[in-house]
Amino acid sequence: MKIAVLSDIHGNLEAFQAVLGAIEHRRIDTVICLGDNIGYGPDSQAVMDLLAEHKIASVLGNHEMAVKNRASLEWFNPMAQKALEITLAQLSGPAVAKICQLSFFLVKHGLRFVHGVPPANVFLYLFQVPEKKLIQKLDRLQEPICFVGHTHDLGIISWDGACLAKDKLTPGICQLDENKKYIINAGSVGQPRDGTPEAKFLEYDTQTRQLTVRAVDYPFTDTGKKIIAAGIPKMYAEKLAVGADTVKRG
Ligand SMILES: [Fe+2]
Repeated sequence: MKIAVLSDIHGNLEAFQAVLGAIEHRRIDTVICLGDNIGYGPDSQAVMDLLAEHKIASVLGNHEMAVKNRASLEWFNPMAQKALEITLAQLSGPAVAKICQLSFFLVKHGLRFVHGVPPANVFLYLFQVPEKKLIQKLDRLQEPICFVGHTHDLGIISWDGACLAKDKLTPGICQLDENKKYIINAGSVGQPRDGTPEAKFLEYDTQTRQLTVRAVDYPFTDTGKKIIAAGIPKMYAEKLAVGADTVKRG
């Protein structure tokens, strides 16, 4: 079983289309999204339509939480709130209904998928969890791998029962060990913060335990222009060209 794992598309239609194009050329059995499909970008509704068209399963992200429960808008910084207000005005009734049905986590093919931190946290960032807590979480994890997003940065945490290792992930192949447990951060399709502008996604082969990080070029200048035209704060357009973070929360 070959699974493509996508996270944090954030209303970036051009990046999502480029990733779907890359997936079409590979033998992928299923695609799973880790949430934050909407917000920041200019095309949240079109991204929702494309997810539905391709029947792609997704968990809830913190941006979807702002749709499901408007009170959670308070969690976001003012710039992200402004972007989200514009997103909320764009979304159709059926898209909102679909978002409200998303769950906090999914377990599929023996693997766990969650937006922030296992077992099911949508708001907490992985880097906020102290090592002792991470080890507890990995010990309690029923599945060998939990895929997460939320930080928009790629990374892999492994635990063999004695040693916790945290490493960066870069495009290429990584062989996973059947005797270890992992938390793997898929980075971001539509608002990367790993220092490079390409859309990132993961491929995982459940039989060979091979993890592949893919980086896909897309016309981020076009997306940036659309962000500005939509009235979304300009910084979300500027960040696309550098793949870097300038805000702490979102
Ligand atoms: Fe996000």
